[in-house]
Amino acid sequence: MSESDRHHSNPSRKTHHLEMAEKAQVGMAQLNELFDYEPLLRGFEENLNIDSLEFGDKKMRAPLWISSMTGGTGKAGPINKNLALAAKEFGLGLGLGSCRPLMAGDEFFKDFHLRPLAGDDVIIFANFGIAQIEQYLEEGRGQELLEILKRLEVNGVFIHVNPLQEWFQSEGDRWFRSPLEVIADFKELLQSIGLFIGVKEVGQGMGPQSLQALWELEVDLIEFAAFGGTNFSKLEALREANSSELKERMRPDGLCFVGHSAKEMVRHVNCLIKESKRPAPRIIISGGVHSSLVGFYLLENLRTAGAFGMAKPFLEHATKDIDSLYAFVEGELDQYKMAKTFLKARPLN
Ligand SMILES: Cc1cc2nc3c(=O)[nH]c(=O)nc-3n(C[C@H](O)[C@H](O)[C@H](O)COP(=O)(O)O)c2cc1C
Repeated sequence: MSESDRHHSNPSRKTHHLEMAEKAQVGMAQLNELFDYEPLLRGFEENLNIDSLEFGDKKMRAPLWISSMTGGTGKAGPINKNLALAAKEFGLGLGLGSCRPLMAGDEFFKDFHLRPLAGDDVIIFANFGIAQIEQYLEEGRGQELLEILKRLEVNGVFIHVNPLQEWFQSEGDRWFRSPLEVIADFKELLQSIGLFIGVKEVGQGMGPQSLQALWELEVDLIEFAAFGGTNFSKLEALREANSSELKERMRPDGLCFVGHSAKEMVRHVNCLIKESKRPAPRIIISGGVHSSLVGFYLLENLRTAGAFGMAKPFLEHATKDIDSLYAFVEGELDQYKMAKTFLKARPLN
């Protein structure tokens, strides 16, 4: 008798079925209506190819991006180390958290320098705020920034553009040139050393005109960081509310709740693909995309090359330990492969 036959004829297994049938009832409200389920068309595939975005000679081996998070605090070192190891193990792309502390000195350099851990094949993007890029360019510190990027051995840089988050902070940054001009200048600088440029929000996404403007600029990568998951305006509003310092200014919280969902942004991108003559940038669908099933659904509806990204779910596991992180990624990627084999995403409407 084979191992599998032995397992399936085990009498205690049958007893479990009888005992648990009561608990295993589902209601119609739980039905996931994003997909058609087609069990008859394919068999299981052990080595299903899920290769994803390419940057030069590097390719992600799975369509999952670790969205920008930490750096520059005591806790960041071990978290980033775990994230770098997971990126290497599973072939994920990796965004560093804001690298601003590196322009002040080398104290935190090793927390951000993940190349030795991640190996040569992982795609890594550094991360700066639009205000910092504007400031460094204005102060003529562009070359200094490039030197840091070279030492970091990254493949590209994300600029986060987050005016709402900044407004919610008492000490928040301001910028006065159009971000589009700053991004265009920075793109030229990055191209001079062969690095890619990406642009992202931090949890509220962006509207069709901003997407179109980025399209016209021909940036290499757009990460949605859409509304629906971690929301940094809300986070800053909570920080301010908890602060014991006397508040000079009360901020109503209405601006926490504006923005665009990932689903809506996929729709806008698909329109641009149809209407624009320019090549489509690579897309990372993120912001509340906390399951590979949702990632699969949105990617199947996206009409260009993309991956899906998560921040908060990675943080939860990376803070625990590497085994928990590996089990999480493995589970999500296995689920993605099952979806690819047995589900058909219904069209976005
Ligand atoms: C702890 C934490 C730190 C973050 N730090 C940054 C950052 O430094 N730069 C940035 O562009 N986005 C940052 N983000 C935003 C994420 O990259 C992402 O856009 C956002 O959290 C939405 O994804 P999620 O819903 O999967 O968490 C951070 C998110 C978290 C949870």
